[in-house]
Parts: sequence; C-alpha cells; structure tokens
Amino acid sequence: MHHGEVDLKRRTLLAATTAVLGGAGLVAASIPFIRSMSPSARTRAAGAPVQVDVSKIRAGMQITVEWRRKPVWVLHRTPDMLERLTGKDLLRHLADRASEVDSQQPSYARNAYRSIEPEHLVVIALCTHLKCVPRFRPEVGPPDLGRDWPGGYFCPCHGSKFDLAGRVYKNVPAPTNLVIPPHRYVDDKVVEIGVDPVAGDEAKGVEPGGAGSHRG
Ligand code: FES
Repeated sequence: MHHGEVDLKRRTLLAATTAVLGGAGLVAASIPFIRSMSPSARTRAAGAPVQVDVSKIRAGMQITVEWRRKPVWVLHRTPDMLERLTGKDLLRHLADRASEVDSQQPSYARNAYRSIEPEHLVVIALCTHLKCVPRFRPEVGPPDLGRDWPGGYFCPCHGSKFDLAGRVYKNVPAPTNLVIPPHRYVDDKVVEIGVDPVAGDEAKGVEPGGAGSHRG
C-alpha cells in the first residue's frame, strides 16, 4: 500500500469519526434544551388552565390572557353595557342572538350574556372568519361605526362585527359568534379558563336571548 493511500484512508476514517462525534454532540446538546422546558411550561403550551383575578379588571375594561396559544379576552361589562345587550335595536342585527350554534359556547354560556356571571365575558379573541384579532370598540355611536353602534368588537380584516357578548352581526363575513372557552369561578374573584364549572355552579335561570340573573 502506498503512503498516500494510507493517508487517504486515515483522512476518510477521521472524517467519518468526526461526523459521528458531531452527531452525538448534537444529540447531547439538544437534551439540555428539551430538559430546560419545565413541565409546567410544557403543560401550559398543551393547554393547562389559566387563572385570572377578575376583581382587578375595572368596569368597562378588558384584559387579554393566553390560553392554548390563543388570546382570550376577559371583559368586565358595566350595567349600561349589559342593558344594551338585551335591547331590541341590537338583537335584530344579530345572526345568532340565542347562541344556537352549539360549537361556539359551552351550554352554561348559552344565555343572554354568553357568560356565567353577567358582568364578566370570557371569550376567545379570534374572529370566526379568518382568525384576525378584532378590535375592542366599546364606545357608543362612533363616527366610523355608525350612530347605532352600541359598543362591541370590530374586525378590521374584512369588517365583521360582534356585540359585547361576542355575538356576530348579520351580513358580515364571520359565520358564527365568537367562541366562549370552558371556564369557571374558583371563587368570587378568580376565573379559571380551560375548566368547566362543577355541577350546580353554572349559569342558571337565564333564557337564551333574555335577561336575568345567574349563578346560584
Ligand atoms: S378575519 Fe375578521 S372579518 Fe375576516
């Protein structure tokens, strides 16, 4: 065997060994990365419940939290807002005023306010047309939305409109009401998103499309 031939063989062997070691290094390097994602972070990404202290949200304001990688609004509605939700002027514009499309809310949110407690709306902040995030437009009668706008959500992508219960207007691109996720009250201040209420702690005594009080 020629000297040059031996050198070539050694170089080939070295290159192969380095490649294997390189591969092993890659695997070894990726393990700490996987381990560094704590169980709670992984569980959260997979959809663990999220708790919100609703006592910190002022009347008329809303906050956005993340659940299952989706934005969720928690809105504290004022008595005025609630009253407007049952007004005839609004109801006649709505495509599904009684929340009849089952997929859009759990049964305990199939009521006049699409919520457990009237004052707190918990709703996924994605337009049911092509999943844009609509804008919170709580003001009454702004010039761009018209004098009869009672406050609601407006999707700038293609012009869909929703009221402050997430009910969709007629004749807009969005086909259905915004989605109400499972949620429950842990106590008077804390709402947990991602978990259904325990039996007996659901909205009661409110007919779809009608007014009334909840949670007994
Ligand atoms: S995504 Fe909202 S109207 Fe199209």
